[in-house]
Amino acid sequence: MSATPIFQVQHFSKAFGGLQAVNDVSLDVEQGAIHALIGPNGAGKSTLFNLITGVTPVDTGSLYFKGQDITSLPSHRRVELGMARTFQNLQIFPELSVLENVMVGRHCRTHSRFLDGLLNTRRNRKENQESEQIAYELLGQLGLQDQALQLAGQLSYGQAKLMEIARAMASEPSLLLLDEPLAGLPASAIDFAEQAILKLNDLGVTIVLVEHNVRVVMRLSHQISVLNNGCLLTTGTPEEVRHNPAVLEAYLGEDSHA
Ligand SMILES: Nc1ncnc2c1ncn2[C@@H]1O[C@H](COP(=O)(O)OP(=O)(O)O)[C@@H](O)[C@H]1O
Ligand SMILES: [Mg+2]
Repeated sequence: MSATPIFQVQHFSKAFGGLQAVNDVSLDVEQGAIHALIGPNGAGKSTLFNLITGVTPVDTGSLYFKGQDITSLPSHRRVELGMARTFQNLQIFPELSVLENVMVGRHCRTHSRFLDGLLNTRRNRKENQESEQIAYELLGQLGLQDQALQLAGQLSYGQAKLMEIARAMASEPSLLLLDEPLAGLPASAIDFAEQAILKLNDLGVTIVLVEHNVRVVMRLSHQISVLNNGCLLTTGTPEEVRHNPAVLEAYLGEDSHA
């Protein structure tokens, strides 16, 4: 792992009405890292994801991605630059096949336009073929090759979550943000999902992970940032965070995380 940050959050703040959901958060994520974001419910983790990916505009603060100030870029431009995410709540197209759901993630990497599709030009056919092949490969990596032609609506919850990771990967990201990828998975599926995340990281993808399963977070992460009430409590290695008194205090009473 090199020590260059792939992205830098500088003094992010976001309020909803009177509620300060994210409060002056600054954060560097190293290129090639698995960086977890943890904290009690309502800490501001998903909001921070939405600010980083441009789904929600920041009130104040700036964001650098690969050295470039992208604070005011719309989210589709951030995707083109190599940022991809999954959402805490499933966002799938149940009436499309699993393969097609993943191919949707290719959109920002293809150049065919409306007319190409209408006229079924060579470029259109070639790009479609290529997208299909990439989607198949990704489904294979996530253990879903046998489900490729099923309707996405027929997948189990755990399979749908893996499919969403495949779709995010289809945009060829260098940075992948996963919002609670293991939540709701049966114990039997957690191990597999964890291995899949490691494999993507091995391919060189930097991963930012919001996850409640502290045991998994401790195993997977190089760095952990802890949020509480919109504020960043600390960033450190799993070992450092585990022994930080402020972190223990933030989690007191949250016995599901103990
Ligand atoms: N769109 C929104 N409108 C109003 N309040 C919101 C909105 N999104 C999040 N919040 C509030 O901001 C706080 C942080 O939420 P969130 O980022 O979802 O926390 P986490 O993901 O850490 O559980 C919560 O109090 C939540 O109710
Ligand atoms: Mg959340």
